[in-house]
Amino acid sequence: MIAQRRLGQSDIFFTPIAMGCWPITGITSIDVSESDSLATLEAAFEAGINCFDTAYCYGYAGESERMIARALGRVRDRIVIATKGGIHWDEQHKQVRDARPATLKAQCDESLRRLGTDRVELYYLHAPDPQVPVAESAGAIKELITAGKVRCAGASNFTVEQLAEFHQVCPLSAYQPHFNMLQREIEDSQLPWCREQGVSALVYWPLMKGLLAGKLPREHVFAEMDGRRKYPMFSGDEFQRNQDFIDKLRKLAMDIGKSVAEIVLNWTIQRPGISAALCGAKRPQQIRENAATLSWSLSSEQIDLIDRWIVERGPTVSGMPTVMQPAKSS
Ligand SMILES: NC(=O)c1ccc[n+]([C@@H]2O[C@H](COP(=O)([O-])OP(=O)(O)OC[C@H]3O[C@@H](n4cnc5c(N)ncnc54)[C@H](OP(=O)(O)O)[C@@H]3O)[C@@H](O)[C@H]2O)c1
Repeated sequence: MIAQRRLGQSDIFFTPIAMGCWPITGITSIDVSESDSLATLEAAFEAGINCFDTAYCYGYAGESERMIARALGRVRDRIVIATKGGIHWDEQHKQVRDARPATLKAQCDESLRRLGTDRVELYYLHAPDPQVPVAESAGAIKELITAGKVRCAGASNFTVEQLAEFHQVCPLSAYQPHFNMLQREIEDSQLPWCREQGVSALVYWPLMKGLLAGKLPREHVFAEMDGRRKYPMFSGDEFQRNQDFIDKLRKLAMDIGKSVAEIVLNWTIQRPGISAALCGAKRPQQIRENAATLSWSLSSEQIDLIDRWIVERGPTVSGMPTVMQPAKSS
């Protein structure tokens, strides 16, 4: 088993495969049902995952946090819950950034109510609010720690400068950026900073929204409500080049008797400085497959081979928004 990892300098440990609890809200994923979502959360825990990543804005009315409470309330003491504040939905279902101290404190209280708990292990500022100095938002999260509502602080979608500014006011335990085989910008900047400061990096989109799970055929037609339609990675030449890259992973997967998703996740959690891959899933079988990667490790030769294929793939046109948007708003 790949060992659990320490959250920053705390005494909290988490599995390097964590469950991302965004797809279960159904805002950008299609064919999501409440029963599948609850079963997926339970399956994640049964498969050995102890870390669940959610946010105040996952679901228009906190559905993700509420489902975590329903599915996992009975094992609350055995899981690590990370949630986030600073983004909410307006009445037109558009995302609004608001990281004023009073908003963060009110959102944290609401998240705790939804989660049916009096304290979360990790509370992130979801994204910097251009209208509010980072230090002010950091001060609010520090107060939440002092009040005993939050054990550790995190920041998501930050530059290095913003991380340093936050860290001065409220020591960070975790950073949450996007990162995957095809999007590695943080390796030159934020990741070295996190390693120097002892801050854990828990990364989102390790499977690039399912692209790197290797199950989308080349000719896949995305349904109108599928949020992936608008990302360059999923269309035209970019999509075909990504498929060429995935074909190489598929061959390796067949040779060693693993799935493409397992290989991608295994590579991710073995990258220096990456503490966990936050894996979104909406079906029990997906999260079981992703959790299976905890029980084996790619060899250094296999990692070198994959690194060569990534170089051969070349730079990608990612064009990603920093935070998720509902399919309807684009
Ligand atoms: N901090 C932030 O701003 C931020 C932003 C985005 C995400 N996140 C966090 O990171 C998590 C991960 O991001 P994500 O959920 O958007 O993307 P992801 O983990 O890259 O991809 C999740 C999607 O991949 C597919 N999938 C997963 N496992 C699979 C498997 N074994 N086989 C086939 N398909 C599989 C499923 O989609 P289909 O079944 O539809 O193909 C699933 O919905 C989120 O849930 C959230 O917790 C944070």
